Amino acid sequence: MTVNEVHLKAPGNWINDPNGFIYYKGKYHLFYQYFPYAPVWGTMHWGHAVSDDLMHWEHLGIALFPTKDYDRNGVFSGSAIEKDGELYLYYSAVKYLEADKENIHVSLNDLFETSQAMLVSPDGFHFDNWKDKKMVLPVCRRKEEADNTHTRDPKVWKDGDWYYMILGSTVEKQQGRALFYKSRDGLEWKYVSQYQGEACGKVLECPDLFRVSGEWIFTGSPMGIIEDGKEYPNQSVCALAQFDSRTCTMELTGEVKFVDWGLDLYAPQTNLDKDGNRVMIAWMRMPEAVEEPGKTPWNGMMCLPRVVEIRDRQICFLPHPEADKYFSEKVKDRTALDFSKPYRLKAVLKEGEILNIGGYEISLENGCLKGDRSRVFVDGEKYRLEAKTPCIEGDCRLDIFVDRNLIEIFVNQGQYVLSHVVYGLRPYMKGEVDAVYTGKDID
Ligand code: FRU
Repeated sequence: MTVNEVHLKAPGNWINDPNGFIYYKGKYHLFYQYFPYAPVWGTMHWGHAVSDDLMHWEHLGIALFPTKDYDRNGVFSGSAIEKDGELYLYYSAVKYLEADKENIHVSLNDLFETSQAMLVSPDGFHFDNWKDKKMVLPVCRRKEEADNTHTRDPKVWKDGDWYYMILGSTVEKQQGRALFYKSRDGLEWKYVSQYQGEACGKVLECPDLFRVSGEWIFTGSPMGIIEDGKEYPNQSVCALAQFDSRTCTMELTGEVKFVDWGLDLYAPQTNLDKDGNRVMIAWMRMPEAVEEPGKTPWNGMMCLPRVVEIRDRQICFLPHPEADKYFSEKVKDRTALDFSKPYRLKAVLKEGEILNIGGYEISLENGCLKGDRSRVFVDGEKYRLEAKTPCIEGDCRLDIFVDRNLIEIFVNQGQYVLSHVVYGLRPYMKGEVDAVYTGKDID
């Protein structure tokens, strides 16, 4: 069993969305979309990792995998709840109507169907993929309710006497929508209502709806909201919302914003940590696998766990207190910094100044924070290399976490976050910084 530090990465091969993130019986469990055979997307499994502190992750192998006719081509994304001491895992079950003959791991021309299913684990460590699965929502044939192909990613929560499920879906791949279902027992579900709006893009994936300080927040990953011909037109958004639990009517009441302004973060999922903070974790997309000596090539990782807060009616994402605890060793002699390990910088950036982290450049341009990865990324044509936050009023205080393939910049206590995947960072740092911290090593 390998232990993986700070950013949960694919234990070789391919990872995408976080799934079933939960603090359950004294441990954090994080499942993830996993293709175990190559560092590319394919027939989906749920990989499984556990942690005591959200910083060190122990890989436990594959938890969920196709066994049933209805999930034969993939166990897609979903979520977890605890019920009567058991772990209920909800997921989307995919069945291809036609597979690509040269790559059976993908469907041909989107010819597939999706139902919603679950697996009940007695303890979070045993998953009987033959006996303990159950289909909870068959493929929907009523177009006004849902799309038979693109309806997925059940996020389930309990409120009072009811269980709620939000699903991502679409109308004809043109208008994204969020669907709401209700249940008394978490097993039998009834369709109640749906929401359509700009925040849902063309197809909505991985929606989430939760409360922070008494306010509802909607997050989701709408497809096709950026139109500039580059890769990754799909981005994750968040907005304050109103939600009537009885009728499952949702309205977005605040501005729709990016969860992260760096354009790699996708499919965020939240849950409560052991202290009751609302924590978000998300997939950081990578255009190419990383090959390191002696390791299976890997593609994809999770961002740092981020606490969701509302300040002045703005949704903020802060580094989790466990990240603070972990990166607490102040570096006195900066010339001795080991650039091969993750570290953290604090700085106040002024207009015109540049902070250069191994070739990655951070600057303030007309009050907006800019991250430029053009010197530390793959082939420039297809991808966005620069990203900016909206303009920042007052000081620009940065809290930056640097890992070998990921830079996460928290601006003014999580007012904005800008994260970028990077390749080939060089071992130097130039520019004015107030403090540097390294992580506490594990034994
Ligand atoms: C989002 C997503 C989900 C789906 C999963 C499949 O990245 O497309 O909608 O369940 O990935 O791997």
